[in-house]
Formats: sequence, C-alpha cells, structure tokens
Amino acid sequence: MIRRLDHIAVAVPDLAKAIRLYQDDLGLTLSGTEDVPTEKTSTAFFPVEGTRIELVHPMGGEGPIGKYLEKRGGGLHHLCFETDDLDGDVATLRAKGWVFLSEAARPGAHGARVIFAHPRSCEGVLVELAELPRAHS
Ligand code: CO
Repeated sequence: MIRRLDHIAVAVPDLAKAIRLYQDDLGLTLSGTEDVPTEKTSTAFFPVEGTRIELVHPMGGEGPIGKYLEKRGGGLHHLCFETDDLDGDVATLRAKGWVFLSEAARPGAHGARVIFAHPRSCEGVLVELAELPRAHS
C-alpha cells in the first residue's frame, strides 16, 4: 500500500550547478549524494517537509537519465511513492494493466528496493515505487 510521496525527481545536465541552485537560490539543505550503479545514475537529495527533491544525473554520461536529457533536456523526471508492500502493489497494479520497466524490483538509493512503471501507465508520468529497509521506515 502506498504510504507517502518519497521524492520528486528532477533530471539535471550539470549536477554541481543544480546542487548550488537548490542550496543557494532556494535555501534548501543537501542531505547527501549517492551513485546508484544499477541505474547508472548519480543522485543528490534535498529534504523538504515530509518529502525530498532528488536531483538525478547520468553516471558517466550514460544510462536512462543520459537518454532522457538528450531527448528532452533537464526537467521533472519522476514521482516516487513509498510503499510498505512493493511486490503486493506491483501485482495489484499489473492486474490493473500497469506496465513496469523491469520484471522485478532492483536496488535503489538509501538501500531501498525500487521499480519503475512506464509513463503510459500513469497519464504520462514516470512513477517509481520504493520499499525502504525496515530500520528506516
Ligand atoms: Co527516484
């Protein structure tokens, strides 16, 4: 069952520049950066009351974020909902016709298990479902 909006992800062509923008212009506090090799993505997180902004940048210029930036430039990339039952929710959504970008969940940032649904399943929005490790939830 979906519990909360974990983060809103923004694709950025220049991670250092975007971090400065969110820190200096918007006054947000960087909580950390993390590379997610399975997604070939570098991330930076800015907590905002109850949720977080996740900046996503291609690790080594590759991967899905690299392709996204090439096609569309920087901008809103995905919504991530936290669930307490990832496999159950995926099964329920598949039964409703949702299409996922991988067969099974994969390791994401912060030790979460994550899976992405195709944007056509959710009115053009790329949706990530994340199940956080028990110790953090
Ligand atoms: Co995400």
